[in-house]
Order: sequence, then structure tokens, then C-alpha cells
Amino acid sequence: MADSRETFVVNAFVTGWPVKHSRSPLIHGHWLKQLGIAGSYRAEPVAEDAFAAFIQSLKDGSSSYRGGNVTIPHKERACALADRPDELAEELGAANTLWMEEGRLHATNTDGHGFTANLDHQHAGWDKADRAVVFGAGGASRAVVQSLRDRGLSEIYVVNRTVSRAQELADRFGAKVTAHPTEALAEVMTGAGLFVNTTSLGMDGSEAPRIDFTRLATGAVVTDIVYVPLKTPLLLQAEQQGFATVDGLGMLLHQATPGFEKWFGRRPTVDDALRNLVIADM
Ligand code: ATR
Repeated sequence: MADSRETFVVNAFVTGWPVKHSRSPLIHGHWLKQLGIAGSYRAEPVAEDAFAAFIQSLKDGSSSYRGGNVTIPHKERACALADRPDELAEELGAANTLWMEEGRLHATNTDGHGFTANLDHQHAGWDKADRAVVFGAGGASRAVVQSLRDRGLSEIYVVNRTVSRAQELADRFGAKVTAHPTEALAEVMTGAGLFVNTTSLGMDGSEAPRIDFTRLATGAVVTDIVYVPLKTPLLLQAEQQGFATVDGLGMLLHQATPGFEKWFGRRPTVDDALRNLVIADM
């Protein structure tokens, strides 16, 4: 007799255009296996002109997916098209995590969570810093600035080559956030407890400027959201100058945990096995 019990399989996706370089299938695949969950997580390449139809298929239930991750170039439209973007996504105007709940498409942005959870994991106490210097004012910087503000840091100095972009962040995130030109870098770094690189400088072996970190507060932490290479030129410089550093790989791993929990119902952990798996794939 055939077994009448049906195995209920939850499917999740990562969509972008292109999406083949995404490490998310590796990360979620590891957790599915580790937790023994009968689910799937797949890369779904979706071009810009097909994205609205892809979202509609989630909403009307014709898709087999419960939810998924969204990456470049769809993050802004994912937020706009969701029925229930949360406050984080609304303020950023961008979402990276979607899930269906009670017939509605919900959206959030977990990049800021990934950023702070990585620091918590690798350098507990980092948030005692009063002042942070955030270098760069692009899309990645927004989530970092939002999460630092929400964590209660009293001053967040955004330093950018194009100062008007830093000013946009200051206008969006409130009085604790101020904008500064690159020429003011040395001045604003003096006494700061946290330095974050959110630019692509140093990525994939590209050149990075020399930065004098010695003006930072004693015990300050330097972190980079770039994780290829793991030790970026800026992190190497900071180490040589005697500062603690935190690499950016953990941000990628931690930003994935809230989505996994929404789709598959279990909170996964970021462990060394996962970290080593992703490093071996780099
Ligand atoms: P992302 O969304 O990944 O953050 P982005 O929006 O292109 O990418 O932003 C890249 C950031 O790196 C910006 O802050 C950019 O400075 P500008 O706003 O002045 O363009 C910064 N950046 C990139 N290349 C740079 C360079 N050679 N020198 C200084 N800053 C640079």
C-alpha cells in the first residue's frame, strides 16, 4: 500500500541578474543538510523585465516558493512590490529577504543584522564605541549606517569621495549621522572606536589607499564589508598599526539566518564549518 503521508517540502530561492556567483545556495544548502530539513534553496536568474511577474507568482501562489533572497538589481523593486515591507526595508527602500505569510508577501532587509551580528560574534563589546567612521556612501553603506544608529552609537560619521551621497545618508538617518569629505578623514577618525570600509576599494586585489588608523581610539576595531580577499589591504594596514580587525565574510553568513528561519522554521547557526565551506569556494 502506498504511504499516504505527504512530505511537505519548502522551497526557497535567491534571485538576481546575474545570480550564478551567489554563495547563498551553498550557505542555505549547508544548513538544510545540517538540520536534516527536506527543503530546497535554488538560484533563480530573473531579468529586470521579468521580475514583476516573478513576484506576482509568489503572491498568487502559482509559484512553488515560500520565499527567498533578492540581490542586485532587484532589491529596490522587491521592497516596492511587497505587500508588507517592514520598517527596516521601508527606510532603506530596499529588501533582500521575502516570505509569504497569511497570503501576503512580506519583505525585510537583513544586511544590517548581518553586519552587527558579525561584529557581535567576532568582537563582543564593539558597540561600546561612541563614534563610528563609515567610509563610503553607496547601497551597502546605508544598511551599515542604519544598523549602527539602531544599535545606539551616538555619532556616525559618513566619509565619502562624493560628499552629496554622504549627505543623503545623513538626511535619511537623522541627526546622529553626519557627512564628511574624504579630506576630513584624519580629523573625524581621531578618537573613533569603529572604522568600517563599505567601498569596494581593495576588492579582488584592487588598490586601496593608505590610511593612518593610529588616530583611532585605543582598542578600536576596523572592519571591512569586502571579503574577497578575506584580509583586505585596509585590514592588513590596520593590523600592522596595532588594531583589532573583523573581516566581512561573517556579514554574508549572518545576513542569511533570518530568511532561513522564516522559510524553514529553524534558526541556523554560523559555525566554522560553514565559514570554511565558503572560504574553500572563494
Ligand atoms: P554599493 O552599493 O556596493 O555600496 P556603490 O553604490 O557603487 O556600491 O558605492 C560604492 C562606494 O564606494 C561609494 O561610496 C563610492 O564613492 P562615490 O560615492 O564617491 O562614488 C566608493 N568608491 C568606489 N570607488 C572609489 C574610489 N576609487 N575612491 C573612493 N571611493 C570610491
